Amino acid sequence: MLEIGTPFSAAGKKALLLGSGELGKEVTIELQRYGVVVVALDKYAGAPAMHVADKAITVSMLDGDAIRRIVEEERPDYIIPEIEAIATPTLIALEKEGWNVVPTAAATFTTMNRREIRTLAAEKLGLPTSSYRFARTEEEYRAAVAEIGFPCVVKPVMSSSGHGQSLVKNPDGVESAWREAQEGGRAGQGEVIVEGFVDFDYEITLLTVRHIGGTSFCEPIGHYQENGDYRRSWQPQPMSPVALEKSREVARKITDALGGRGIFGVELFIKGDDVIFSEVSPRPHDTGMVTMISQHLSEFALHVRALLGLPIPEIRFYGPSASRALLAEGDSRDIRFSGMEEALALPGTDMRIFGKPEVRGHRRMGVMLATAATVEEACAKAEEAASKIRIECR
Ligand SMILES: Nc1ncnc2c1ncn2[C@@H]1O[C@H](COP(=O)(O)OP(=O)(O)O)[C@@H](O)[C@H]1O
Ligand SMILES: [Mg+2]
Repeated sequence: MLEIGTPFSAAGKKALLLGSGELGKEVTIELQRYGVVVVALDKYAGAPAMHVADKAITVSMLDGDAIRRIVEEERPDYIIPEIEAIATPTLIALEKEGWNVVPTAAATFTTMNRREIRTLAAEKLGLPTSSYRFARTEEEYRAAVAEIGFPCVVKPVMSSSGHGQSLVKNPDGVESAWREAQEGGRAGQGEVIVEGFVDFDYEITLLTVRHIGGTSFCEPIGHYQENGDYRRSWQPQPMSPVALEKSREVARKITDALGGRGIFGVELFIKGDDVIFSEVSPRPHDTGMVTMISQHLSEFALHVRALLGLPIPEIRFYGPSASRALLAEGDSRDIRFSGMEEALALPGTDMRIFGKPEVRGHRRMGVMLATAATVEEACAKAEEAASKIRIECR
């Protein structure tokens, strides 16, 4: 095992990564920078984090018994969830037995289910949210839509990346939104949330890190979503001082309630000076990939420093930056990138290719990063650089 002669040394420590996507890949690299051995898990072989991890295991994150067996065998110092869909009851049991779940097992359980996180935010903490109702049957659902009114947003309580989510503008959309939610939910058929549509000016992710020295905030990240999936993000999102202060207050309250150490992506809708809580990830956030070019410590580095109990004395922000998702479309296991020479010839650009082995339909395969004098220029540069990239599904 490695030895690093400092009191904060993480030498000889092992982390178990639950989920091995592009965010997990960066977390793995950051962990290894501090001498931590990483075992990466995902349901398919060749997932991005597995390319760099010390060991990879193919297993479903929803298989609680398998996760327990692996924990008992590997004996990790840290169990680090990278995705939302995990057997969280197993994590809760493991934590009770003394295993360290990042940030906490309860945080992963609460944020995996929209009912849990919404109830905590709106009813326990009194944070402003959209109006909302929950429904388990089609009859309850119709009553919920009638109460919330149009337009409204319908989502399975267990889903992410916009799966099963619909905007319902009028009575004609009610039926199909129900079907969509029943088919797109992670658990198959199940409960939905009906939310009042928030006519926000813009939405942000406020990366909030709970660490040994307290709570720190990154510059706010603005982002654009398409079909509930992130396409572009930029940092800093210009905000009024009042809205920024309120955003930090909301982020502090929700992250304090979830507890533990690590980074959180707090999603907020902003209208004028009003701040409306939407949801939160107790882990790095996809819109936060922009921090790979905008900050001295990226969201991944911050997560790792925080969870290892290492100090974060400052978060140095380099300046206006943007990220742009690189999507592929097709049906292939032979995926070729080209155009990097032209894209990276633009000064102030960088990119990541995630190395996902397969595309079936749409898939995020990489990200373009750019930095410039202003947010507008950074966004335009990321767009221009992305336009040079071709992803061929052979
Ligand atoms: N109540 C709402 N009003 C307006 N837009 C919404 C609402 N809920 C979701 N959205 C839009 O859809 C996106 C995805 O919704 P979100 O609840 O974050 O789902 P996911 O868990 O899939 O990320 C949001 O970032 C926002 O752009
Ligand atoms: Mg979201």
